[in-house]
Amino acid sequence: MATDNGIEVEGLVRVFGDEIRAVDGVDLSVAPGEIYGFLGPNGAGKSTMVLMLVTLLPPTAGRATVAGFDVAKQGPEVRGQIGAALQESALDDFLTGNEHMDLQGGLHGLSKNERRTRGAELMERVGLSDAAGRKVGGYSGGMKRRLDLALALLHRPSVLFLDEPTTGLDPQSRSALWAEVERLSREDGVTVFLTTQYLEEADVLADRVGIIDHGKLVAEGTPTALKAGIGQVSLEATPANPNDREKLAAVLARFGEPAAASPKSVAVRLVSGAEQLAEVVRALDAEGIQVGDLQLHQPSLDDVFLQQTGRSLEGEEEEAEPAS
Ligand SMILES: Nc1ncnc2c1ncn2[C@@H]1O[C@H](COP(=O)(O)OP(=O)(O)OP(=O)(O)O)[C@@H](O)[C@H]1O
Ligand SMILES: [Mg+2]
Repeated sequence: MATDNGIEVEGLVRVFGDEIRAVDGVDLSVAPGEIYGFLGPNGAGKSTMVLMLVTLLPPTAGRATVAGFDVAKQGPEVRGQIGAALQESALDDFLTGNEHMDLQGGLHGLSKNERRTRGAELMERVGLSDAAGRKVGGYSGGMKRRLDLALALLHRPSVLFLDEPTTGLDPQSRSALWAEVERLSREDGVTVFLTTQYLEEADVLADRVGIIDHGKLVAEGTPTALKAGIGQVSLEATPANPNDREKLAAVLARFGEPAAASPKSVAVRLVSGAEQLAEVVRALDAEGIQVGDLQLHQPSLDDVFLQQTGRSLEGEEEEAEPAS
């Protein structure tokens, strides 16, 4: 494994046609062995970024190196270091999982023996041993994503690119994939660049997160630091009697600005944090309002996105452009 298996990106730009600035001047660096989460809504420029870093799309401007090699000038060297599971997977419905492994292993110059043992080991690791002999056309979406991951790992890459690896996975397969990515980084020192639309995924998995919107990085840092930058805890309360909702809202309004809440409840950002809780409870009691449920929410990465862009990442789907 290369000792310098990090990623360096400087002023990277990709323009499509005359006006679509899909990636619009991104600077970032990923340390060797780090898991970097690239978080953003549909059309933000995540896949375009990945395609440039894996040498499948030439940058319009700027510079990027992967494991020390320039993506524009040293394509073969970069490709020798990386594994990638792209958003548009290139699986063949008429081949079995094992046949994909064998084919891919051949491309990387592995011997027949290596192909067989390594292939079986990886199929086991992604939980596809039982399905390895079946044609991929019969795999579920989640099984295909797992096969993509196994294929990306076949030649022991030092840098791994995963473009929305858990989209369409059920919660169980999602946590299994998280565990595997975590293990690759911690035990094998693999650098992981992962795109996602899921706040929780970035939060749980990534050492650092870059939030991208309209081709630009709008925030970057560890999930903890990003959330701490927001600072304010919100309080969400649900009245025991639904008719008390207005009264409840009036009381809570004394303690902070309104925040997003489910239809039956009311939420506010507490001006001076969780220590106000007792005061809130006393105020509600004084007004004779019975509370059915009371919850404190720590700031989330969605709050960070909201603060930077004025929009929420959650529930973005309805207004999003079609996936590309
Ligand atoms: N080959 C292309 N030709 C023209 N425009 C493109 C092309 N690829 C991407 N775009 C545009 O560039 C922008 C960024 O697209 P990209 O696929 O990078 O977004 P994304 O963040 O990966 O989104 P998603 O979450 O939907 O996968 C979008 O406006 C998209 O329509
Ligand atoms: Mg994409």
